[in-house]
Amino acid sequence: MRSRLFFFAFALLFTFVLVYLVSQNHYQIKNALSSATRPIWDKAEGPKNLVKHYYSEGLDINDQVCQLHGWRERKSGKVKVLDAILFSTELDLLEIRLNELNPVVDRFYIIESNATFTGLPKETSFALHRERFAKFDKKISYRLVPGYPLEAGHGPFEQEAGMRDQMTTLLRSHMTEFHPETESVVIMSDVDEIPAAHTIELLRTCDFGQSIHLQLRNYLYSFEWLVGLTSWRASAHVWGPDSFYRHAQSSETVLSDAGWHCSYCFRTLPEYITKMQGFSHADRIAGRIDLLEPKRIQDTICKGKDIFGMLPEAYNYLDLFSQMSLEPLTTAVGLPLFLIENAERFKFLLPGGCQRESIPPHS
Ligand SMILES: *[C@@H]1O[C@H](CO)[C@@H](O)[C@H](O)[C@H]1NC(C)=O
Repeated sequence: MRSRLFFFAFALLFTFVLVYLVSQNHYQIKNALSSATRPIWDKAEGPKNLVKHYYSEGLDINDQVCQLHGWRERKSGKVKVLDAILFSTELDLLEIRLNELNPVVDRFYIIESNATFTGLPKETSFALHRERFAKFDKKISYRLVPGYPLEAGHGPFEQEAGMRDQMTTLLRSHMTEFHPETESVVIMSDVDEIPAAHTIELLRTCDFGQSIHLQLRNYLYSFEWLVGLTSWRASAHVWGPDSFYRHAQSSETVLSDAGWHCSYCFRTLPEYITKMQGFSHADRIAGRIDLLEPKRIQDTICKGKDIFGMLPEAYNYLDLFSQMSLEPLTTAVGLPLFLIENAERFKFLLPGGCQRESIPPHS
């Protein structure tokens, strides 16, 4: 009798503890389950037709190089390359990008909002620091898109789509100023998706068709942590009357190893917190305020772990396991030129520089 009572008391306590743990961590549990089974229920998205990419430093990109890629040299002499960038807060990456692409790009289009995708007010970093980009001023067209607190029924994805529509409008209004025979190659990407200058030179010289995705080396937090060649959303398009700015799949073709995607590459810890709250996938936070603890974030960056404390999204088990334990790189070869030329200033982006500043940027 006594032992049964004891058993029931124990079972009751066990149930309470279990219910408590599940209720505290239900989002993480759900996510861990869906990530761990992702290779089963989800096929890898993205373009399938990979164009092999040939390049070595100093290569003169001409018709012969075009043919190596299965293309022909463009006949029209009037090509303009327009780099259309959705900007959030990464001033350092923007500076590296503009310097990398300046020799091969005719105009930069930069759009930023005064709200995050989740509708929280956000500093307009580019507008506030425009003098830092004075060297490129003549080439830059900038538009500030007003953002608002989320309305009921609206999600972060609508805010993001709104910014892309604004970019389409800006690009269309500019196309009319070009010579009618001009072929405009538009690079569509977020500020942290940086094509290599030689890639853009190749796309400028060779007729790659209507549109092509750019496969980028995907780094996490800095160029110290390489996740793999997993990034494909950036793309280049020959602009036509029906073109619009997008970040989804628009072609089956993708040029391999075309540049760098540095995700969550911020100089300061407060930027991580802002980004985690403002990211389109902010539901990942799901009430777990402890995920926003600066010390935990710093630790995560130095160890190359997932910032949300969850399994990374991966599409097959091999990727999944390799991503769970990223090995720090000890090489900084093959990175953007301006980054290496200014290695001391951009130390936080390079191997061995995981320590982040704890004051907000520009305060
Ligand atoms: C952004 O700017 C617009 C126009 O100036 C303003 O109405 C809006 O409230 C601002 N949004 C935020 C989130 O501060």
